[in-house]
Amino acid sequence: MRGEPRIEVLPDPEATSRAAATAIADALVEAVAQRGRALWATTGGSTPVGIYRELSVDPLRDIVPWSAVDVWWGDDRYVPRDHPLSNVLPLDQVLVSASARAGLSGTGEYAVDVETHVEPGVRLPVANIHAPRMNDAIGLAAGPEWAAEEYADRLRDAGLPLSDDGFPVFDLVLLGVGSDGHLLSVFPGSSLLDSDAWVSAIPAPTHIEPHVPRISMNPRILDAARLPMVVSHGAGKAEIMATLLGEERDAHRWPAQLARREGAVWFLDAAAAAKLPSSAQG
Ligand code: 6PG
Repeated sequence: MRGEPRIEVLPDPEATSRAAATAIADALVEAVAQRGRALWATTGGSTPVGIYRELSVDPLRDIVPWSAVDVWWGDDRYVPRDHPLSNVLPLDQVLVSASARAGLSGTGEYAVDVETHVEPGVRLPVANIHAPRMNDAIGLAAGPEWAAEEYADRLRDAGLPLSDDGFPVFDLVLLGVGSDGHLLSVFPGSSLLDSDAWVSAIPAPTHIEPHVPRISMNPRILDAARLPMVVSHGAGKAEIMATLLGEERDAHRWPAQLARREGAVWFLDAAAAAKLPSSAQG
């Protein structure tokens, strides 16, 4: 496949989050209309926060049939779910409504005080939130390997459709990109590109923050995904965006190029897009 993604450049981070959230809502609505459920693999880092904010209020909040949306995480850090570095915390805090989150407190996986959270937010059923079980792994001192295996088992048990290569097919994979060219927790030179494991434990990176171990889905889910969506803002990403969308392709060196394919969409703000080669400017 490969080819080129659609690139949309918006004036600022707010407009970028709004455009991405609208496209996410559309993809979720369409998936539910066509297949009865929407399978979303979301991401971590700072990028999803503004997107979740847009999805949690009118008009998008009421457009999406949330009870038919399943949320998974493409990667997560080996920290408790209510830790500031958790990739799950922003969804818990920003997207999901306090009344829906009240159901989470009984699961042992969630410890944030729901009283401090202000509605609105969406009523995503607890059973639809498929977060890695970092609290359990840490409590058992079982390590990220256990968390990765347990997560992969749940993914298999969920019976997602599979690609010809045997990877789960998500309707939507939301992705941020690191300044080193990583996506998910797939860093430059990662052996995950040659692995068949659905989910792997990743040692703490030393070259980029935060220096914590992670788990990550196999980046080959991006070949199978119906809609890979990259969202990135800020001048700090301008250099890497120019490289990722430039002439040379080498996914081992710049794993984020795995999302540079036909059928994908990249939402960038003007600062992140400032150094794009003219060939990449829509
Ligand atoms: C992680 C992420 C990672 C992230 C990028 C971009 O756990 O670190 O999933 O792939 O998406 O580093 O991060 P920002 O959104 O903060 O730019």
